[in-house]
Amino acid sequence: MKLLASDGLIARPARIWTREKLRYLQKYAQAFMTAMAPKRSQGLWERLEYIDLLCGPGLSVVRDTKEEFDGSPLIALKIKPAFDHLHFVDLNRENMAALESRVSTKDAARVSFGVGDCNVLVDQVFNRISNRSLCLAFIDPEGFEVDFKTLAKLAKKRVDLLYLFASGIGIRRNLKNELSVANSRLDKWWGDKGWRDLPAAKWASGKFTEEPPEKVLQSFVSAFRRKVGSAGFQFQDEEVLPFSNTKNAQMYHLLYFSHDKTGLTIWNNIKKIAPGGQRSLL
Ligand SMILES: C[S@@+](CC[C@H](N)C(=O)[O-])C[C@H]1O[C@@H](n2cnc3c(N)ncnc32)[C@H](O)[C@@H]1O
Repeated sequence: MKLLASDGLIARPARIWTREKLRYLQKYAQAFMTAMAPKRSQGLWERLEYIDLLCGPGLSVVRDTKEEFDGSPLIALKIKPAFDHLHFVDLNRENMAALESRVSTKDAARVSFGVGDCNVLVDQVFNRISNRSLCLAFIDPEGFEVDFKTLAKLAKKRVDLLYLFASGIGIRRNLKNELSVANSRLDKWWGDKGWRDLPAAKWASGKFTEEPPEKVLQSFVSAFRRKVGSAGFQFQDEEVLPFSNTKNAQMYHLLYFSHDKTGLTIWNNIKKIAPGGQRSLL
């Protein structure tokens, strides 16, 4: 059944980690614009742009309480100093129609909307971005929807990237099922068939590994980080942020990549404070 927000438009069902992840995005986007906006007038950047290739409808709703909160596109639109331009893409036409209705007429002039596969539309987005722009990209898939080549394209531009990596115990079934598929979605996600040789894939297929599952999953995250880093990001987060479900099972990791050491320093400072305001144990 479709979930509607109080404005009568479609919304995303919020999970326990949704708000937490979005608070980190909000804090980073705020710090990014505060630090980089003055450099725009100094001529270092022509424009500061935000890219959200899986943007959703703009609002999340907690099913039980009906509590609503902004999704990533509305968060980015409210950041001050403001992004010069924001690029929103989603596969789902209804999500995009809802988002378009939620963007104020005042903001509409600095937003581009694209309906379709982000792995295709990424080229259109980049055609609109000047080489003298600095961008923040938020890539928030549920699983393996984003091809590695799309991330590699982001790595070739002046982009800071926040990427939500599906690293939970539940991916074991996905990996197992996909191993038997000749041209699997995961081949595109990983960029080649190399994921099939990872300890996580062996563990998923029932092969004996000496490592406990948590370690196997950790090495899965590390292998992915190395791969994205080698596509061109010089700096990345070593202690990635985990998000868990209500049963305290790890579900996702939020990964950070940049070309700029300052960006990583900002991210590391943000991570020291948990979303609720208390100092993190990380
Ligand atoms: C986890 S949601 C994004 C939530 C959003 N970041 C927010 O904060 O509300 C993932 C979105 O990706 C979209 N999606 C899935 N596959 C896609 C693809 N190949 N290209 C573009 N969007 C896709 C889905 O329709 C969904 O809205």
